[in-house]
Formats: sequence, C-alpha cells, structure tokens
Amino acid sequence: MMIKEKLTPFTEINREAGHYIAGGVVSINRKVSPQIVFIKGKGSKIYDVTGKEYIDYHAGFAPYLLGHNFKKINDAVLEVIKSEWSLMGSGTNPLEIKLARLLCESIPSLELVQITNTGSEATAHAIRLARAWTKRDDIILTLGGYNGWHNEVARHVMPDLEEIGSRVSAGEYPFIASSSGIPESTKEKVHIVNFNDLESVEYVLKNYPVACLLTEPVLQNIGIVSPKPGYLQGLIDLCEKYGALCIFDEVKTGFRSALGGYQAVAGVKPHLSVFGKAVANGYPIGVIGGKKEIMDLFDSPDPAKRVLIAGTYTAHPINTAASIATIEFLKNPKAYAWIDKISNRLYKGLTNLFNEFGISFNLSTNASSFCVYFCEKTPDDLHDILENHDFKFDSIYRKALIERGIYHFPIPCKQGSISYAHSEEDIDITLAATREVLKSI
Ligand SMILES: Cc1ncc(COP(=O)(O)O)c(C=O)c1O
Repeated sequence: MMIKEKLTPFTEINREAGHYIAGGVVSINRKVSPQIVFIKGKGSKIYDVTGKEYIDYHAGFAPYLLGHNFKKINDAVLEVIKSEWSLMGSGTNPLEIKLARLLCESIPSLELVQITNTGSEATAHAIRLARAWTKRDDIILTLGGYNGWHNEVARHVMPDLEEIGSRVSAGEYPFIASSSGIPESTKEKVHIVNFNDLESVEYVLKNYPVACLLTEPVLQNIGIVSPKPGYLQGLIDLCEKYGALCIFDEVKTGFRSALGGYQAVAGVKPHLSVFGKAVANGYPIGVIGGKKEIMDLFDSPDPAKRVLIAGTYTAHPINTAASIATIEFLKNPKAYAWIDKISNRLYKGLTNLFNEFGISFNLSTNASSFCVYFCEKTPDDLHDILENHDFKFDSIYRKALIERGIYHFPIPCKQGSISYAHSEEDIDITLAATREVLKSI
C-alpha cells in the first residue's frame, strides 16, 4: 500500500479524492494549486507522497508552533492512551482541570475558561455569550478578519476593492458573505468596520444595539496587519462606554505572540477571548475565557439566562494532554527565545535579499508569524493591501519557492509561520532558495 502510494502521481490521488469527497478535499480552504499530496510531517519539514521534502512555513494554517510530531507532545498523547484515559462524558476530571488552570495562569484576562474543539466553536460561543450578557443582538467585526465558518462571521476575508468600495470612516462596509445559505436577517445584525479605525467602531456603537465587537488583535488572515498604538485599548474603552463586550479572537495570535497571547504583549485585557491552533500544537482545541461574571452565565442558576455550551468531544483527553504538554513546554523561556532568534534570522535574511534585488517590499511580522507584502506601505487595514500589494508577484513568488522545497501556502498574503523546530540550517536553505527565486522572476 505504502509503495503504491509513493508511486502514485498527485493527479491520480486528487482524481480519486474527487470520487468520494465533495470538492475533492476535506475543508475546502485547503483546495489550492499546486495540488500536492502530503503524507508526513516531522519537525520543520513536511513530505509529499513522492518523498520530496519541504521546509514548512504553512504549519497546517499555523497551529504547529513547536513543529510537526514534537516528541514531548507525542509522548503526552501516548501516555494518555497507555494509561487508558477515556472520554467519559460525565463530570469533570483532573486532566481538564489542569489545562484550565494552566490557561488561567498563563493569560491574565482569563478568570474562567471553557473548552471547545475548534476556534469557530469558540467564536460562536463568545458571540452568544455576549448577546446573553448584554441582551442585544448586533455585533461588530473587522474587515479583513477571519473568525471561523459559522453564519455570523462568514464574510469574505479578502473581497475585491470594487466590492467594498473606497475607505469609509466613520462608517461600515457591506457583509459580503463567503458562503451561500446565510439568512439576510443574520447579515443585518453584523457590522463590518475597518481595522485600526476607532471612529467607525464608535459610529456603529452609537447607532445600533451592539452586543460585542469581535476582532483579531492582529489581522493574521490577510498577512500581518498590526494594531496602531492605543487601538486595542481604544476598542475596550469604547465597548465599555457603550455597554458592549470586547472580544479578542486570539485563535492565530494566541501563544504565537506569547504565552499570555497578544493581549499580554499589548498590555490590555479584553472582556472575553478565544484561542485555538497553537494552544495544542496541532491537536484540536479551542478555548473561550474571560471575566468570571460573564463566564458564569454558562451555569446561571436562572434557566432563562443560562447560555448553552456543549460538545461530545470537548476536552477529549488526547487533545487536553497535548495542550497541557504544549503549555508546559512554552513556559520555559528558552522556547520563545529560540523561536524569536530563528525568526529574526529569517527576517534579517529576507530583508537583505529584497534590498539587494531592489524589490519593493514590506516584511510584516508578529513574533514567529510573518508576511511579505510586495509594496512599500506598511498596511494598517485591508484597503492598504488591496490598493498597494502586488498579488500577481506574490503568487509567482510562492509557487517558485514551493518548487524549490520551501512550502508557503500558495495564496497571496497568507501568513508564514516559523516553529521551534526550525533550525539555522533551515533558514539558510530558505534564504538560498529565495535568492534563486528572486533571480529567476
Ligand atoms: C483568527 C481565527 N479565528 C477563528 C478561526 C477558526 O478556527 P477553526 O478553523 O479551528 O474553527 C481561525 C482559523 O483559521 C482563525 O484564524
């Protein structure tokens, strides 16, 4: 079986997938060209069915902060299996208590947490909790943000400039759905404003009964768009002024920025936060947490106020053990010190190369997450990217790197993710390949 798979070209495997999987790939966001079929991941490398090795900067959409099949995480998972932990579905257990304690100790704004399987579940719960707390229905989201796949948040992450029109402030943008099947009544309750635009947030808060503002603290699904000084605290202050909740979606920034999340880096405390991805280094866990009085609604003595949170597989012992092992590893300051060191080696090398080749670029970074924009302006919002970034060059650049064994997700502006497993040699190979690419295009 293994030998047969190794000899099978991608096209045949993709064709077979199309016979059984709707769309030919599980999770349609993974449907990209080139259609490489990967079968193995170890440390900083991934391998396709032909055995070709790639240095991986996609990291499965960012969870692999420590690298693929990290031994300490695998050991923790194997230990859970060997000791016959199981999913009891009744009452609490020491494993989930330990995870909850570690999360509350690591992230200053978390007074209480609940666990989910995915980031999307966590954002859905956060919105419902905010609606229950405020008894209001409207929500504010950011243009260029991604918060999962459910109805309230499934807007186009990277719409065309013609679709959204030029920058409006103070004002809002239309909800351009990224899926059909979303009721108009849902869209009417969602207000989309630009990132780094406090005036528009206040405009919506003044004019509508807003339950919450939900945003990534750094936009990391259109590359890396950082908050301007004072913006995040400004959001929290505005929400407090108008009686709404400020929710940070740290599914991508959480743990990648620091163990305390980007909120710890920025020194701010949102009312609620959600986490995912790097929290369990590739195992499926989402987290929702925040202020005790709000989180207490999940078990309100008044059934009319109680907010439902449930899930057969939540805090599965395998994922829980993986998350505990991830946090325990990251508590050692040497872990982040290495990730920072190796990230800076790449950033310095890329900067030198783009300068040497006279390429108009902007390297945007947040700790081990990065994106090269092919334009000079540091983007403050989606408009800056749509107006200035060279999307065509970005596409060619990514595909040329992939051909040379450096795997970036082949869609312009998608975040690159560096892991603890990346070595100096990996970075130097990456830079040598980048040099070849820049020479050739
Ligand atoms: C910022 C952000 N929020 C939420 C999600 C949804 O998480 P999941 O894919 O685990 O449902 C993602 C996924 O990419 C994300 O990047």
